[in-house]
Amino acid sequence: MRRPLFAGNWKMYKTLPEGLALVRGLKTALKGNDRGDVVVCPPAPLLAPLAEELKGSGIALGAQNLYFEDEGAFTGEWSCAMLKSVGATYVIIGHSERRSIFGETDGMVQKKTAKALKAGLIPIMCVGETLKEREEGETFAVLLRHVRAGLAGIPENLAAKVVIAYEPVWAIGTGKTATPAQGQEAHAFIRKEVARLYGEDLAHAMRILYGGSVKPGNVKDLVAQSDIDGALVGGASLKVEDFAAIARGGA
Ligand code: PGA
Repeated sequence: MRRPLFAGNWKMYKTLPEGLALVRGLKTALKGNDRGDVVVCPPAPLLAPLAEELKGSGIALGAQNLYFEDEGAFTGEWSCAMLKSVGATYVIIGHSERRSIFGETDGMVQKKTAKALKAGLIPIMCVGETLKEREEGETFAVLLRHVRAGLAGIPENLAAKVVIAYEPVWAIGTGKTATPAQGQEAHAFIRKEVARLYGEDLAHAMRILYGGSVKPGNVKDLVAQSDIDGALVGGASLKVEDFAAIARGGA
């Protein structure tokens, strides 16, 4: 059985005092919770102090991005080694905001995913269609492109560590969630493509998260779907009660 994963993507929210308060609240609220793995992905400047605060809590730490070079003159970027040195174990890659606002291409997503895997970080690789693409009947073509391009050239032993997040862009921050059936359909499609690339066993073991307006009230029906293995949560991960309720599997 796949162990569920609940990941909080804080985006560009929370100062250090606010972030510390949030993780302290989560530590208390999630004590003894065994519904699944939990990871918080704060802005990069908060990683090191939050790692300290999270020690021994069972809550893992992730980053929201990385650069695919080891080091060098890349102002404003950071490497896998830097992330590891401050205690991050996960990293979100190819979020739609990175793709649309910062111009990340499928090729960059692949390089970042490969680099994270080689460094021993667990990539949460985001895929998903825009509203226009869905309306034009392009959803599955986009998913195929994102999955194939993102995993291109990645060998089986490393691909086995990847987490994929299906985030329909039209559901991110909009309050519009995919229905459990829409989510299941996309997740099953993604898993089928992973099986074609790497075989049934790897595909069966891979965790595929749903993201896009996940709330305590809708997470239960989503993760009840056979191919939905947890959630990547934006807005609702910024409040202790909401994220704790989601990480407990929902209301
Ligand atoms: P949301 O964001 O939960 O606020 O819709 C999800 C995400 O962007 O990862």
